[in-house]
Amino acid sequence: MNQYAQLRLHLSANPKTWLITGVAGFIGCNLLEILLKLDQPVVGLDNFATGHRQNLEQIQQAVTPAQWARFNFIEGDIRQPDACRAACVGVDYVLHQAALGSVPRSLEDPIATNAANIDGFLNMLVAARDAQVLRFVYAASSSTYGDHPGLPKVEDVIGKPLSPYAVTKLVNEQYAEVFARAYGFKTIGLRYFNIFGAHQDPNGAYAAVVPKWAAAMIANEPVWINGDGETSRDFCYIANAVQANLLAATAEHPDAANQVYNVAVGERTSLNELFESIRATLAPRFPHLQDFAPSYRDFRAGDVRHSLADISKARNLLGYAPSHRIQDGLAEAMDWYVSDLTMR
Ligand SMILES: NC(=O)c1ccc[n+]([C@@H]2O[C@H](COP(=O)([O-])OP(=O)(O)OC[C@H]3O[C@@H](n4cnc5c(N)ncnc54)[C@H](O)[C@@H]3O)[C@@H](O)[C@H]2O)c1
Repeated sequence: MNQYAQLRLHLSANPKTWLITGVAGFIGCNLLEILLKLDQPVVGLDNFATGHRQNLEQIQQAVTPAQWARFNFIEGDIRQPDACRAACVGVDYVLHQAALGSVPRSLEDPIATNAANIDGFLNMLVAARDAQVLRFVYAASSSTYGDHPGLPKVEDVIGKPLSPYAVTKLVNEQYAEVFARAYGFKTIGLRYFNIFGAHQDPNGAYAAVVPKWAAAMIANEPVWINGDGETSRDFCYIANAVQANLLAATAEHPDAANQVYNVAVGERTSLNELFESIRATLAPRFPHLQDFAPSYRDFRAGDVRHSLADISKARNLLGYAPSHRIQDGLAEAMDWYVSDLTMR
């Protein structure tokens, strides 16, 4: 049995209390589903800035009434210190996901991104420290690698940030490090690399590529590729990100805490390949996709050309072992998008 399977058994028998910030968002609600299914008490905090009540309603449908009764939702804003303090009461582990995502959003409105991602982050860090939570796991980002050209990305070698969003995620890591040094507080940053899966919002100007393209293909609308399509990413299925969070919160290796880790698969896929994989996965169900082709336009400002993670640090110190490669993840995610988008 691998470390993650053992951990789930252990948690089921020995529940802890978790706080998920950003619980109505994509990653947050997936964490909620798994933790409730492990019979954990969960506190959730969200202000619905980019998350949706519908995500919470869908998780309620996916768990038993007894499991749902263990969930305490607080509608609140991490920019308010009182909301952060209230959410941390009695909590063992914090999984801090709340933030304004998206590089283009941050280029258009750096002040809003800064307020949620830096002020909000610091409010959460202080509240969690004061509540003496056991560990503070937070969503960091592969954008922290910035302009450094090296591949694969190794945690210790970063470049200069290319967007206000990347600045905020770098500052999060610096605050976490200082809180470890100055207050002995235990944190772990997870540098997510293009996470995709169920409940990821396909709508709006700042939607991520996988849900946006899936929705466009299902609706027979144009799919736009920014640049020549040879831009590549290390796409990582949500189940792997959930695994990384639970392992990070509970890791007992003496060197595990107060570190940042890449959360990815360790495989690179170009946008052209991604397009073809999504098309081929959906085509048996949507005949109009048999001969469907993408449209190309200019490269997008702030995007790095290639991204690929070295995941050996998370493997060695957290026991992280991705359960899904991109094709496995796309198959599950497309099942979800087909049923969700065609039911609306
Ligand atoms: N999805 C990815 O590929 C990816 C990659 C790198 C990093 N991240 C980070 O992971 C985290 C979760 O991302 P996601 O993809 O689930 O995005 P998401 O937008 O679906 O979820 C973010 C959640 O945070 C909430 N939120 C935002 N501002 C808030 C505030 N001021 N107070 C309370 N709640 C607030 C939103 O309403 C939303 O529910 C973010 O920190 C993001 O920067 C995500």
